[in-house]
Amino acid sequence: MCGIVGYIGHREAYPVLIKGLHRLEYRGYDSAGVALINGDLRIYKIAGKVSELEKETEGKNTHGTCGIGHTRWATHGEPNTRNAHPHVSESKNLAIIHNGIIENYAPLKTELKKRGHAFLSDTDTEVLIHLIEDIQLNEKVDLVEAVRIALNQVIGAYAIVIVSKDEPDMLIAARKSSPMVVGIGEGEYFVASDASPLIEYTRNVVYLNDEEIAIVRRDKGLEIITIHNETITPYLQELQMQLDMIEKGGYDHYMLKEIYEQPNSIMDSMRGRLIGSRNTIVLGGIKEYEKKLTNAKRMIIIGCGTSWHAGLVGEYLFEDIARIPTEVEYASEFRYRNPVINEDDIVIAISQSGETADTLAAVELAKTKGATIFGICNVVGSSIPRATHAGSYTHAGPEIGVASTKAFTAQVTVLTLMALAIGRKRGTITESKYQSIAIELSKIPEKVQEVLKSNAHIRQIAEEYAHVQNFLYLGRGYNFPVALEGALKLKEISYIHAEGYPAAEMKHGPIALIDENMPVVVMATNMSAHDKIVSNIQEIRARKGRIIAIISENDEVIEEMAEHVIRIPDTEESLTPLLSVIPLQLLAYHIAVILGRNVDQPRNLAKSVTVE
Ligand code: G6P
Repeated sequence: MCGIVGYIGHREAYPVLIKGLHRLEYRGYDSAGVALINGDLRIYKIAGKVSELEKETEGKNTHGTCGIGHTRWATHGEPNTRNAHPHVSESKNLAIIHNGIIENYAPLKTELKKRGHAFLSDTDTEVLIHLIEDIQLNEKVDLVEAVRIALNQVIGAYAIVIVSKDEPDMLIAARKSSPMVVGIGEGEYFVASDASPLIEYTRNVVYLNDEEIAIVRRDKGLEIITIHNETITPYLQELQMQLDMIEKGGYDHYMLKEIYEQPNSIMDSMRGRLIGSRNTIVLGGIKEYEKKLTNAKRMIIIGCGTSWHAGLVGEYLFEDIARIPTEVEYASEFRYRNPVINEDDIVIAISQSGETADTLAAVELAKTKGATIFGICNVVGSSIPRATHAGSYTHAGPEIGVASTKAFTAQVTVLTLMALAIGRKRGTITESKYQSIAIELSKIPEKVQEVLKSNAHIRQIAEEYAHVQNFLYLGRGYNFPVALEGALKLKEISYIHAEGYPAAEMKHGPIALIDENMPVVVMATNMSAHDKIVSNIQEIRARKGRIIAIISENDEVIEEMAEHVIRIPDTEESLTPLLSVIPLQLLAYHIAVILGRNVDQPRNLAKSVTVE
């Protein structure tokens, strides 16, 4: 993962880099560093967060109008200062920052050592900058050519930026399987992992494609070549992101802001897609594949983490509403197990970032097997939407908290629209059922607003349970994936062990864990299996488990049995996840805050997982 940023222009680079690194910190926060060119090449780096780096540079010379910065999520080598980026070449004239993994770094390193290179870190990145300089000196080529030759020798993923002490008017950036955007301002240029570092300086951006090298010169601007030496005409796009979208806007944490944004983000996911008095669904991105979708023999949904949970909700939706057999796969498993895929299969890749390495690789694999592939992604212009045949963006806006919240509800909204549209075309849903789900869907934003009113009540519950060691989450049907998602949220940000289970499976194992110390969050909204969930609650009570039940607004049966209840408005059963997940997000959030955890940047995690 890692976040990278570079600047060349008329301003002081350091403040641009630091502000950019803060915005990219969601990508990793094990160490941070900058390199600045100003006659010499100066590097400051340190283990820890960008704020540590700022302390480290206090009172030091940070001048220079060309520089690069990095925030790291460690892969090769411990997250200490020595392994922090930027890394330098043998002569210390070149510096590099890197996001990705050079898989064949070991043989390259052995070879370079034989040739007299000495390494200062345990990273794969350092090997690459040594290789580049070695090529430059031995093959007597300029730096751009040396980078190009070196990139033909490496296997793996990279987004890199390189600066040279001897060429203070140039930045070189390149990408393969890790994101990179170039921002073009007035006599100034930016490169970064995403557009957030450059948003207040320019709206003109170019997204690099795989195996492209961007050469950014102070006077001549941007030139792009491929690693095979073809010249590429830059495709200039206008940035849609606004500054307020990436700021906290008065909330203590991005996660809380994003939870509270859900009435709007769900609305944005539906905007222009559910139209007219007949509630017609128009998904522009997949329109030309309508026939293929309607005739699909099977859906295969792939994703990781929270996106995989959204996929599980999709399985219920597609089977229930559109009667299409659906399988949901972890992208990481799918890609390595030689899956059987036919031409009539539709593969749907779900990813907030659009950059998750396993999901991207799974998409590539499915493509080689002839399937039609759709993407449901949030980040516009990211790698997965570019690799798929078609797709629908979720339009949830930037999600910065590492634990995903509004992306989940936006993904489920898009899946619901897809299932409804296909179901109507296939005739697998009656018109009256279609209308009642569509009408309910349009009411979901205001119902989410209702659920958010329980925030103070949920905070009180969180205070009571913040210091337990374990949590169990149970749900049936549409609420089963929500139980998984609730447990994941708690694990991610509070570091409390939590498990999600289908409620009926409890008796096959987890029931052994239940005693008076075990809180059990039971998803018990009005649903077809309400009676059965009541029985499950009794089984937990009989073993003294402590029940926190998510129930429908008028339920009086469960209120009697549970220690705590959180009410959510009634809705169509198929739309329940959009409401029932909200209290679980808030519960995890408050517990993490009470425990003093770093909610937006939990330990060991990163928002965008661009490594396997
Ligand atoms: C990481 C994030 C999760 C996210 C998962 C998949 O683990 O911390 O919040 O659900 O990656 O990411 P994607 O961008 O593909 O949805």
